[in-house]
Amino acid sequence: MRFIGNRSSGKMGIALAGEAARRGATVTLVLGPTSLEIPRDVECVRVQTAAEMLQAAQSAFQAADAAICAAAVADYTPAAPADHKLKKVNERLDRIELVETVDILAELSRHKGNRCVIGFAAETDNVVEYAKRKLARKGCDAIIANDVSRADSGFGTDTNKAWIVSTTGVLELPVLTKPQLADTILDLLQNS
Ligand code: PMT
Repeated sequence: MRFIGNRSSGKMGIALAGEAARRGATVTLVLGPTSLEIPRDVECVRVQTAAEMLQAAQSAFQAADAAICAAAVADYTPAAPADHKLKKVNERLDRIELVETVDILAELSRHKGNRCVIGFAAETDNVVEYAKRKLARKGCDAIIANDVSRADSGFGTDTNKAWIVSTTGVLELPVLTKPQLADTILDLLQNS
C-alpha cells in the first residue's frame, strides 16, 4: 500500500525541481513512487510513506533557502501497518484504524524563519477561498491553488490551472504547462 501521491504522477514536483536546477539552484527533490525520469543536476530522495517524506523534507530543509511542497501527501495512515498479506479468512478487514499524518508543509513553515515556504492546494470548488484558509492555517508564504476538477489541471495532467494566493493578494494564471507554472512560481520565489 502506498501512502503518498496515489493519484499524483510527480509531474508538478519534477517540473519545479528541473526548472530550479536549470536556474542554478542546488535542488533536493523528495519524491514518492513514480516511474518518471528525474531531471539532471537534481538530488532525488525516494520515499514511500508520509513519515519518510516528513523526515526527508525536514533534513533537506536544514540547509535550504526555500521549500516548495507540491506532493499529495495522505492526511491519514493506518495505525498498525501489516508486514504480511492480510488473509480475509483470518483477519477483520472491514475496518482499518487510521491516525493523522504530520502536516509537512505546516511543520516546515513553523521553522522557516525568514526563508520562503510555498505550498499547493488541490481543490475542486471554492478554489481561492479554500486556498486562503489553507494559507492562514499552514503559515506558509504562498499557496498555489489548482483546480483538480478540470480535465486539463491537477493529478497526472501535463497542464495546470492555478491561482497564486499569498498574503499580498491573489493572481489568477491561465492554463499553463507544468514547466511553465514551475517557471512562474520560481519567478515569484526569486522576487520575494
Ligand atoms: O504530481 P502531479 O500528477 O503532477 O499532480 C500535481 C498535484 C495535483 C499533486 C499538485 O499540483 C498539487 O496540487 N499538490 C498538492 C496536493 C494536495 O495534497 O493538496 P492539499 O490541499 O491536500 O494539501 C495542501 C498542502 O499541504 C500541499 O502543499 C501538501 O503538499 C501539504 N500537505 C498535506 C498533507 C500533509 N500531511 N502534509 C503536507 O505537507
